[in-house]
Amino acid sequence: MIKYIVQGGTRLSGHVNISGAKNAAVAILPASLLVDGVCRIENVPDISDVRLLLEILRNMGANIRRFGRNTLEIDCSHVRNATAPIDLVRRIRASYYLIGAELGRFGHARVAMPGGCNFGVRPIDQHIKGFEALGAKVSTDRGMISAEAPDGLHGAEIYLDMPSVGATINIMLAATKAQGNTTIVNAGKEPHIVDLANFINAMGGSVKGAGTDTIRIRGGRPMHGCTYAVIPDQIETGTLMIAAAATRGDVLIRGALPTHMEALTAKLLEMGAHVDEGIGEDSIRVRSDGNHRHVNIKTLPYPGFPTDLQQPMSVLLSTARGTSIINETIFEMRFKHLEEIRRMGGISQINDRIAIIEGVPKLVGCPVTATDLRAGAALVIAGLMAEGVTDIYNVHFIDRGYEHLEDKLRSLGAQIERLPA
Ligand code: EPU
Repeated sequence: MIKYIVQGGTRLSGHVNISGAKNAAVAILPASLLVDGVCRIENVPDISDVRLLLEILRNMGANIRRFGRNTLEIDCSHVRNATAPIDLVRRIRASYYLIGAELGRFGHARVAMPGGCNFGVRPIDQHIKGFEALGAKVSTDRGMISAEAPDGLHGAEIYLDMPSVGATINIMLAATKAQGNTTIVNAGKEPHIVDLANFINAMGGSVKGAGTDTIRIRGGRPMHGCTYAVIPDQIETGTLMIAAAATRGDVLIRGALPTHMEALTAKLLEMGAHVDEGIGEDSIRVRSDGNHRHVNIKTLPYPGFPTDLQQPMSVLLSTARGTSIINETIFEMRFKHLEEIRRMGGISQINDRIAIIEGVPKLVGCPVTATDLRAGAALVIAGLMAEGVTDIYNVHFIDRGYEHLEDKLRSLGAQIERLPA
């Protein structure tokens, strides 16, 4: 077990580079199962979710070579349709993409129910509805999901009840290998969905409309290996933007895509922070004097305010003047970090999916425990803002999705150490 020790009170300043997007990488790696041939994938973040997925693919027979920290070559030509190791699959959410990818490649799949952050029920009925529409028979039994399409997959029109990121991606994976055309209506529009579509197209597939609510896939096209670079991480960018504002800092975030950050940028401006996107196309500068007004937040699918930034943002609001209201519409239990923030002096009330936060003048460091990935990032921000020392336990959650977070923060002047707990 690892913990962070954060000495609060330092203003972050300087520049920092953004890593490749976790939620794009965890879709693109399984997508390499769709081709016989080598996929060279650049800008892959070195995070534990990615390392786990690579271990799963290796176990299935993929040949994977690493070049430096962030470039991989994956050759799935000799992959056996082995059931991915259950203990590994259960440790990450994104292992459910193996169902779509295996179904596309082999016409059948058997994968353990996925794990991942625990902030609600997280059903996968929309994924299953999509696979069934494509012609698969899907069953769940003793923690395993089995999908089979003995007569092959065929294109279909699939309406999603909600614009689910996971279901959109999983259906894109399977439909790429189906015969005929598939349309996903009410699809997710997140940047990582667009990134996967671009990757599939680079392999010779045909996905059109990604980034809108209707995605059209022409299935069954001949496919081949390719070279591709993963987009910058939207959530890491947002986390560092919030950390800059929270520490009254002045930080230039490089290698980020400002257009992916519009919902957060609007809220930071409303709070009184400065956000400049004019310095080069791929950088964002965030400055603040720490004098923040309260704002209300409603999490929504992209391009709305991302649920993954709700937890870090709620920490920033905990010292803003006045009362802020957060409406978490995506996941039902994503306020557990506020219990820890209360231990640091924050004032909040939670009523189902609504959190009411009363701004206090300051937070005070104390031992706190991360309950999931973004809760962990939120607690790091709280530690940076707080007076005194904050010990943060369960850092393995943070390692799932942030590449060397403590090194990046230290390069901006933060006093943060990683130690065995
Ligand atoms: N939902 C259903 N049925 C389904 C699928 C989703 O009811 O079949 C519901 C979910 O319960 C939730 C909502 O629809 O209430 C949205 O879920 P979605 O499918 O969009 O989320 P996900 O695929 O499980 C991905 C990210 C999450 C991110 C959400 C929302 C990955 C691997 N995970 O999860 O990322 O919070 O989209 O943007 O891409 C994170 O990075 O910390 C993280 C949790």
